[in-house]
Amino acid sequence: MADVYHIPALLEETIESLRIRPDGTYVDVTFGGGGHSRAVLSRLGKDGRLYAFDRDIEAYENARGTVQDAPLTFVHSDFRYLGQWMDYYGVRAIDGLIADLGVSFHHFDTAERGFSFRFTGPLDMRMNRNGGKTAADLVNGYTEEEIARVLYMYGELKQSRQLAKRIVKSREQSPIETTDELLRTIAGPTATADSLTPPQKKEMTLVFQALRMEVNDELGALREMLQAALSLLATGGRIAVLTYHSLEDRLVKNFLRSGNLEGNIEKDFYGNIHTPFRLIEKGLTASEEEVERNPRARSAKLRVAEKL
Ligand SMILES: C[S@@+](CC[C@H](N)C(=O)[O-])C[C@H]1O[C@@H](n2cnc3c(N)ncnc32)[C@H](O)[C@@H]1O
Repeated sequence: MADVYHIPALLEETIESLRIRPDGTYVDVTFGGGGHSRAVLSRLGKDGRLYAFDRDIEAYENARGTVQDAPLTFVHSDFRYLGQWMDYYGVRAIDGLIADLGVSFHHFDTAERGFSFRFTGPLDMRMNRNGGKTAADLVNGYTEEEIARVLYMYGELKQSRQLAKRIVKSREQSPIETTDELLRTIAGPTATADSLTPPQKKEMTLVFQALRMEVNDELGALREMLQAALSLLATGGRIAVLTYHSLEDRLVKNFLRSGNLEGNIEKDFYGNIHTPFRLIEKGLTASEEEVERNPRARSAKLRVAEKL
């Protein structure tokens, strides 16, 4: 297991942007190492409450000791069910929500989770290991056409058909079960993580990203969560989303601008724009100092909006 579970990106900026009220009701849909959650909890009084979600139970098990006795309800669930869970707890409206998307350092740095080609491990990539298909199920079970679609849609890889062909050819010899077998399938029979050229490394990163997004249906979950958040936020309530790649960022940007997933800005007869949000942060990135301390913060983008 990795030593550091996670280092939160843009921590101060995210928390400040939410203007937390001590008696408010907040949701952190991506608990992870609990960095953002602990910062919210430190600002809540006895009448405040934080609901924190993570679909990986290891997240909460790791941080349980640091949040004991806090006004926190942990929900081990996919955040796509945000609306149903708030209903279950009788929460009608929330004052703020944080979503720090993607996976944690713990996921990337733990070989047996299979998220990184830097280590040899099973090709798993599920955030929730209680069920569902693994990345190995996908590369060995999807048709060539389906693999090409995943690589193109979620990795934006132009050579997706060629890569899918290579995967199918390789699995005909023997199933692709581990991260290093996939790496050699893509980059050549003698390739190792250390021998990759920068373009190969980029390609491998995008292949792994695409498989991870398919395995965890990351964009599907994000779409459902954003819609639930819109209906739950009280007037004046704020939503803060940290994105890490262009696909999820585009989705969040369009949603916060328009209030719908298509990004259609609605105008009335007189040309007045109707949107449920006022934009507060439009893609804030980490400072050079933060990136120096935490290089993985380099790709983080913060978007914040207030419900009108
Ligand atoms: C970037 S980390 C969050 C780090 C956290 N903000 C911190 O300060 O430590 C993302 C976390 O969200 C979880 N996650 C990602 N997608 C999820 C989803 N659809 N539902 C619930 N949890 C999710 C992952 O398991 C991971 O632990």
